Amino acid sequence: MREMVAAQRDVMLSYFGQVPGSFTFEPRPVVAQEIPRRIEEAVAIETSATELKEVAKAEKKVFTKEFLQEAVTAIVAERTGYPPEMLDPSQDLEADLSIDSIKRIEILSELADRIGLPGADNEDIQDQLIEELSQVKTISAIVDWIIDAAKRFGDVEEEAIKSETPEVREPQVPAASISREVQPGPTGGSKDLTSEVPAKAKRFILKLEELGECQSNVELKDKSFVLIDDGRSIALELSTLLEEAGAKVNVIPPLVTPDESLFDGINGYIDLRSLIPGERHIAKDFFPVFKLGVEKKLEWLVGVSALGGTFGHPGATTVPSNIPLGQFPQGAGLPGLMRAIDREIPNSCVKAIDIDPKEEAQVIAKSVFGELTDSFGSCCVGIKNSKRFQLDVVEAELNDAADFSSSISKSSVVLLTGGARGITSLIAEQMARDSGATVILVGRSELQDEDAKFQNAQDEGEIRKILIDEAICSPKEIESIVKAVKIQREIKSTVTRISKYSPVQYYSCDVRDEDEFAQILDEVQATLGSIDLIVHGAGVVEDKLIGDKSQESFNRVFDTKVNGAKTIGNWLSERNGTTATTVVLFGSISGVFGNKGQVDYATANDFLDAMAIFAKGASANRVISIDWGPWAGGGMVYGELEREYEKRGVGLLDPTDAISNLASELAFGSESQVIVMRSNPSAFLKKASR
Ligand SMILES: NC(=O)c1ccc[n+]([C@@H]2O[C@H](COP(=O)([O-])OP(=O)(O)OC[C@H]3O[C@@H](n4cnc5c(N)ncnc54)[C@H](OP(=O)(O)O)[C@@H]3O)[C@@H](O)[C@H]2O)c1
Repeated sequence: MREMVAAQRDVMLSYFGQVPGSFTFEPRPVVAQEIPRRIEEAVAIETSATELKEVAKAEKKVFTKEFLQEAVTAIVAERTGYPPEMLDPSQDLEADLSIDSIKRIEILSELADRIGLPGADNEDIQDQLIEELSQVKTISAIVDWIIDAAKRFGDVEEEAIKSETPEVREPQVPAASISREVQPGPTGGSKDLTSEVPAKAKRFILKLEELGECQSNVELKDKSFVLIDDGRSIALELSTLLEEAGAKVNVIPPLVTPDESLFDGINGYIDLRSLIPGERHIAKDFFPVFKLGVEKKLEWLVGVSALGGTFGHPGATTVPSNIPLGQFPQGAGLPGLMRAIDREIPNSCVKAIDIDPKEEAQVIAKSVFGELTDSFGSCCVGIKNSKRFQLDVVEAELNDAADFSSSISKSSVVLLTGGARGITSLIAEQMARDSGATVILVGRSELQDEDAKFQNAQDEGEIRKILIDEAICSPKEIESIVKAVKIQREIKSTVTRISKYSPVQYYSCDVRDEDEFAQILDEVQATLGSIDLIVHGAGVVEDKLIGDKSQESFNRVFDTKVNGAKTIGNWLSERNGTTATTVVLFGSISGVFGNKGQVDYATANDFLDAMAIFAKGASANRVISIDWGPWAGGGMVYGELEREYEKRGVGLLDPTDAISNLASELAFGSESQVIVMRSNPSAFLKKASR
């Protein structure tokens, strides 16, 4: 999403000495010159930021708490435009000042360049530092962290944290802007993959690949497992196998809210609830118990889905049964959930195992048991007819290119959720330009008139300055007004741009509300006769590590995607009559590869993929899920950040290029799930830790 294009990890890696001082963020400071900048005044010599760090380390610089607080406050002030006196050290930077974890890390990056920071150059502790820094949310907490890290990581000795002030300097490296979607953390590490980044978007599909036998190299003796009962003896058969291998087993019914003590003394958890006949368990219901498993550092976390043994992908051995878009395939989203967990705890055995529920309980139990003993296996394994499969991401370019006039025309009606903002708005505009089709935009925000006092404010910085000068609002209130004005402007701008080419209408609706959304679909159909193309682009991200993620937050991210798609599916089955409608679901490579901090987003996007795959052939409607790589939407990402991504093998999609890929897909594609990214799958391979 546009709120978060930069990967937190990437930013962190650049903080750790790789690209000193290379990041800044919007909004640019509006009153920077007025801010007292004691740390800058202390600067006199011309050396690079890196040299300065060396000097600071060599001289074992000392930091007082007051000095550090002033230094951090000055940087926050510069970056936000707020005068230091409006910044309270105990203010929540994220909630009150819209400084998300990426921006917090940028602040530390800047501090690292000015005064040097503990542990910054030590590759062995970088992961630990990333985890720690993502939790630090106030200026005081940042200061406390620096002091604590200085003691622990030894750049500064404990007794040196006293009352002197170190020399500091301005960073010398030019700044870049950041954009906002956290995309699947590529491999990280130091390998420079720049040369492998494709110049343009590439199209990939998923193909089943048969795997060899399990390696069975893990000892289960004396390990303890909790199993969720499947109600049809698979859990019992699996218990027998585990007990024969010397493990202890506790079989329990599915849990909504797990007891904190559930995993005390337990090594592994195996969730078989998707296999319970006649029950529907949605992927978001699995979250609380897997979260507890992550917190308790279990060695095995396993979710079993009943998608047919091939994750719904047709292969040599299977053709999936068709499930209309509005219905949920059993265990959909579980692979995405497990992939994201696997990214956060790479040294545990985290697996999604897909089985064919029609097979004998004993056969299924044996297959699942085999995967538990194979520590080096793939995170997602499908098993059918005793054969093991994984999904491979393979390139599959379309031979022909087209614009949107090949799939829609002036008489078409196109409805786009999330279409008034972000990447979907760019697509809506191009559709209008190419075809003249009637465009219906659906978004959460209600359209409002702008306060006259902002009429001369050109950008966020200027809106913020007006509010700061009024001195009647807190920074938290100011941020909320700035955001609201920005959203209104973006929606109005989209409507104006589209209206040059097509009739256009904006509806305010929360697509999580099935009745409200279905009513809009009804109204559009009643007024315009049909809806020929629906693009479900609505989405939100609320990135947090699993331990910090609440069920409410998970649900918001999940429901926006999944409930929206479900309503579209149900509406098509029940009320669309005979018209065939094409439905495009916007997913993300986060669902395909997993991503640290995006357990909800990865689950939801994977769920959409499964919905599209199973919907194939279920009705006359065509359903496609497009898993996008990160976009350079609206020119927000350039310069240093783009180069950082590319170093890790992930290029940002050029919007024109990405949009033309979608147009060609609609014209010539026939797959249910397509990945469009400017990277090669190798960029997302995990470190060979297991
Ligand atoms: N940008 C990327 O690089 C990227 C990469 C991969 C996938 N994607 C996918 O592409 C889609 C668009 O992403 P984006 O970056 O353009 O996002 P964005 O700029 O944040 O825009 C999201 C849009 O969705 C709308 N929306 C959110 N929740 C909604 C709800 N409950 N009901 C109705 N509308 C809702 C928002 O409306 P309001 O503004 O009114 O709240 C906004 O118009 C998402 O599905 C995302 O997962 C994007």
